[in-house]
Amino acid sequence: EKDGYDYFMLKEIAEQPKAVADTLLGRIGTDGRLHLDEVRIPDQVLREIDKVVIIACGTSFHAAMIAKLAIEHWTRVPCEVELASEFRYRDPILDKQSLVVTISQSGETMDTLMAQRHAREQGAKVLAICNTNGSTMPREADAVLYTHAGPEVAVASTKAFLTQLVACYLVALYLGQVRGTKWGDEITEVIQQLAEMPKHVEKVLDTMGPVRDLARSLKDATSVLFLGRHVGYPVALEGALKLKELAYMHAEGFAAGELKHGPIALIEDGLPVVVVVPSPRGRSVLHDKIVSNIQEIRARGAKTIVIAEEGDEAVVPYADHLVRIPATPVLLQPLVATVPLQVFACELATAKGHEVDQPRNLAKSVTVE
Ligand code: F6R
Repeated sequence: EKDGYDYFMLKEIAEQPKAVADTLLGRIGTDGRLHLDEVRIPDQVLREIDKVVIIACGTSFHAAMIAKLAIEHWTRVPCEVELASEFRYRDPILDKQSLVVTISQSGETMDTLMAQRHAREQGAKVLAICNTNGSTMPREADAVLYTHAGPEVAVASTKAFLTQLVACYLVALYLGQVRGTKWGDEITEVIQQLAEMPKHVEKVLDTMGPVRDLARSLKDATSVLFLGRHVGYPVALEGALKLKELAYMHAEGFAAGELKHGPIALIEDGLPVVVVVPSPRGRSVLHDKIVSNIQEIRARGAKTIVIAEEGDEAVVPYADHLVRIPATPVLLQPLVATVPLQVFACELATAKGHEVDQPRNLAKSVTVE
């Protein structure tokens, strides 16, 4: 039931700190190391794989894009991501040293299921990251890592996405732990930081009032753009997808570095542009480049909605609206940066009078190819 919330989506957004905590539960040992024995892929197999391929659709695909960055960074194993609907039709190169990871909330999405079957036929090992116990994908996979978001009723995915990210970080860190990399110390540090994430997500949820006001004020906008880089790029795509699904509005996500290669022509007076700013610590080059992007689009009349870490003062002069998120390790930022975008889309759609739990033309589980 909705527990006093007007929509399941609002309830599910609010449940995210718990969903993240539940997905971590029992997987970080008192020794500070990850314990994923439940996955049942022998460490030897994980040491021998020479590439990872991640397959998913929609929101789950955005989690896959972030997983790629985490896996390649912490393990140095090459990782590809592909939309499930495209995967098997291009005759992908797979063998028994390939680890294929499928990501699905429902475990029943036909595109992803068919891709998973195709991968197994080619001899690849398949690990399913899934939220639905006993659904088809985990039943057919070689190994399973369940997300513990609990039942997700609203058609638009929110808490399942955050738990998919957690599962992806766990897989990436675990692979790094088993194989041993030069990032050993960082892995230990990030495992500790992961345990802090439920608290950070809670903090973001506590400060969403101004985001709701902003969303309502934009209900007559005809288009919203989203920009990001590195892990912020899939977050931008996710923000745009939520707005399309719920508000039936034109919304598009771009890698901010691509702006100058075309999309900047779209910028006109009053166009709302949401920018996900990378941490100024760590990859500071990206941070500085995105601050120049914000300056550029604002000079051309865009209304800038800037999502930036606490303490990032460089963005202040160029933000028409500033949304603060807690400072986290660079790769973990999507866990906090996505939340304001979910709230934004849900509130904007509600202001337009749309049924947010059941958007038109969409089904919770897409069981046709
Ligand atoms: C977006 C959304 C869809 C699903 C996609 C995959 O809010 O819900 O894009 O993410 O259909 O579904 P699963 O994860 O069940 O395979």
